[in-house]
Amino acid sequence: MSRKPTLLMIDAGHFEVSYVINPWMTPEAWSKDRMGHFRAAQAASAALEQALTGAGAEVIRLPGAPGLPDMVFPANAAVVLDGRALVARFRYPERQGEEPLFVDALELFKARGLFEVVEQYPVGCFQEGAGDCIWDATRQHFWAGYGQRSIREAIAVTEDFFGVPVVPLELASPRFYHLDTCFLALSGGEVVYYPPAFTKEAQAVIHATVPKEKLIEASDEDAAGFCVNAVNMGKQIVMAQPRDGLRAVLGERGYTVTGVDLSPFIMAGGGAYCMTLRLDRTRAADAQVQRAAQ
Ligand code: ARG
Repeated sequence: MSRKPTLLMIDAGHFEVSYVINPWMTPEAWSKDRMGHFRAAQAASAALEQALTGAGAEVIRLPGAPGLPDMVFPANAAVVLDGRALVARFRYPERQGEEPLFVDALELFKARGLFEVVEQYPVGCFQEGAGDCIWDATRQHFWAGYGQRSIREAIAVTEDFFGVPVVPLELASPRFYHLDTCFLALSGGEVVYYPPAFTKEAQAVIHATVPKEKLIEASDEDAAGFCVNAVNMGKQIVMAQPRDGLRAVLGERGYTVTGVDLSPFIMAGGGAYCMTLRLDRTRAADAQVQRAAQ
């Protein structure tokens, strides 16, 4: 019996764009039509959940909290692997209030048997969860973004806690402030990435690690549309509405792409991957998905 991938989502009932901590955030645009954007956000969140369940996932929803609008992006809450969770330390005070709430949520999952160990990065060791730490099932290592939100020092902590290699990638642009905005590792070993988001050194590391035929370059439009910020399960990919080009390239590789209109969340600088946290990610299970995909 195969278990469904389990994804955490947070209700959008407290979502709004009320401050600016990345260049995509536009509180002025939001406040021009608060009710309209709010309603669109509820619909987009429901549509994403439906697309994810349609692609084979089980979605667990938790409520958000007043005054913490970016809780709808639980990818930033923690790094998860093999029943171990390491809770984030947010760089900006606007999001730091999320930390104790996510600690509680993950402790609750631990009590239910989903996790064995829940800890948190040390105080001052900024690391923004799975958004800056992406598991590569093919290569059996994490890719870690740093230089915008997360700090390089967090990488050794991640390596220690999970006992797996972590490959650092320095991010060069405030527009692509989390690794998940510009980097996607797929089950068949392909990596979709947006080169201008990375320093020259980080680009060289990607080229040295991923064979040329497995590297897919995202266009400016793909990146600006948050299409690189996608959820991949087996041969299914769920993302913000893709351009035809990207859909076709992924289709040729055997992937089925489901596009969802996530525009209210893009106003806060987030897409499909940001809006989820994979809770049951394990080395072994992902290796199985990987073998099945070959
Ligand atoms: N407004 C949020 C922030 O700036 C968006 C987070 C998007 N999440 C992500 N994993 N990229 O923190």
